Amino acid sequence: MIPEKINEAKFDLLSNDLSVWQGREEWFFNREHTDTYEQWYEGRYKRAEIWQKKILGRYIQKDTRVKTLLEFGCGTTRFTRWWHEIGIEASGGDISPFMLGQGVHLFKGDLVLADSHYMPFKDNTFDSLAFVTTFEYYKDPVQVIREAARVGKHGIVFGMMNKNSPKFYRRRIQEVFGANPFYLTATFYSPKSLIKVIEKALEGRSYEIEWQTTGLPKWFPVQEWSQPYGDFFGLYVKLKD
Ligand SMILES: C[S@@+](CC[C@H](N)C(=O)[O-])C[C@H]1O[C@@H](n2cnc3c(N)ncnc32)[C@H](O)[C@@H]1O
Repeated sequence: MIPEKINEAKFDLLSNDLSVWQGREEWFFNREHTDTYEQWYEGRYKRAEIWQKKILGRYIQKDTRVKTLLEFGCGTTRFTRWWHEIGIEASGGDISPFMLGQGVHLFKGDLVLADSHYMPFKDNTFDSLAFVTTFEYYKDPVQVIREAARVGKHGIVFGMMNKNSPKFYRRRIQEVFGANPFYLTATFYSPKSLIKVIEKALEGRSYEIEWQTTGLPKWFPVQEWSQPYGDFFGLYVKLKD
């Protein structure tokens, strides 16, 4: 039998040392939040997820060159598992051992513990790269896009919280009152501001961009559209060179 003290020591070593990432307290390095992350999708968020997947899936399937995909910031693999369901051979990467620790039990494919700013893969290893509600946390977004365009051959798909949404202001107010730990360190983008970053990162490359928003109120006549308003947007960079 393993003495209790050894178990405690091992566990504490990991959780205490890793609660801070890049000098900041991050929710994804806190097991209080990572252990319950998947439950969040099973609740109020379920309807939103269906529409998000519709948009992201359409972009990836439209680019028929894409058979393999690496999803960085894959977390517990919620979307990584789903790429497989729609016929894409996906792998995942994430910086949080706690999120991946959940993912490894839920996903059969390959996972890597790494930082999106330094993807441990050779050039053109995958047909495409995907980022789903993770790009908001990156310190150097230009570098991450350059990494994605280096490791991914044909395209990059983004799924993001939209800055042009009433929820953006609600989240910021919740944070002031300490009620929402999830977005304290996040930078929110709109389709327009993300495109600016992409243009800087991919200067000299040949590509096309498409985007759509969703996350509109239930009563609204459409649930996705090409206007920059809505809680969430999907954007695809189709690399042409
Ligand atoms: C909101 S979660 C999204 C997880 C998953 N993509 C989903 O949609 O359910 C954000 C994820 O980004 C990861 N992340 C944040 N910064 C990262 C970085 N520099 N490199 C890799 N992953 C990162 C976090 O660990 C976390 O799992």
